[in-house]
Amino acid sequence: RKPVTIPTLNTLYRRSEPITMITAHDFPSAHVADHAGIDIVLVGDSLAMVALGMDDTSEVLMEEMLLHCRSVSRATKAAFTVGDLPMGSYEVAPEQALESAIRVVKEGRVKSVKLEGGKEMAGTISKITTAGIPVMAHIGLTPQRQNALGGFRVQGKSTASMEKLLEDAYAVQDAGAYAVVIEAVPAEVGALVTRQLSIPTIGIGAGNGCSGQVLVQIDMLGNFPPGRFLPKFVKQYGNVWTESMRAIQEYKKEVKSRTYPAPEHTYPMTMPKEEFSQF
Ligand code: KIV
Ligand code: NA
Repeated sequence: RKPVTIPTLNTLYRRSEPITMITAHDFPSAHVADHAGIDIVLVGDSLAMVALGMDDTSEVLMEEMLLHCRSVSRATKAAFTVGDLPMGSYEVAPEQALESAIRVVKEGRVKSVKLEGGKEMAGTISKITTAGIPVMAHIGLTPQRQNALGGFRVQGKSTASMEKLLEDAYAVQDAGAYAVVIEAVPAEVGALVTRQLSIPTIGIGAGNGCSGQVLVQIDMLGNFPPGRFLPKFVKQYGNVWTESMRAIQEYKKEVKSRTYPAPEHTYPMTMPKEEFSQF
């Protein structure tokens, strides 16, 4: 497979062929996504919650993002890679954001960065793209701002919220973003923003009318204990938790009963018995 580049993504967009994106947080999860032929692999700051067990994304540090970006980028031979700028690493000033973006690309080894925010981030997006680092924007529900938004709430439902979403979408496009994630808006809203823009929209909980879709891999694989809350938009395509549980419990049982390791997992003895017996 040829490496996916921004021109590749633009070709898919022009052909109205949906762009596939999924998160990966380490080498194996990136490896399988790359082999599956996914177009874009995102090292999202959802890392904080689903892979590091933190309460929310505001807790994850730049150093932690960099470590995970680096491991993901070692596995992605064809997929285009994106690293999230963690909360606190880009809001202060465009210069701070550019320094952070450079670290994510240089030390994290990913090809582009993603940051949350619309109109207020236009200057920042422009600063980073001007330096030659492609920026993916993220509007609608922006989890890093959950406290200001009053929680994980669907956006774009009122006239005022819809106007803000459109304004944000145009602003990030004009600032030079090569694509924009739209999170948690009604399907009609996602489709309308997609029709209005001339860059790809990547939806998550934004309906079927976006230019592409993204999901958090651990969520869609079902790699979590039963009973966990999942947002409405998550479709569970697998049940990795159940399969891991089955395998680990079987291993445990076989160790306890000494059925593992069996002869086929054991190295043969080559020393003659008489020699061995002297020990
Ligand atoms: O952090 C993340 O995983 C994300 C995607 C859900 C878009 O930002
Ligand atoms: Na994120």
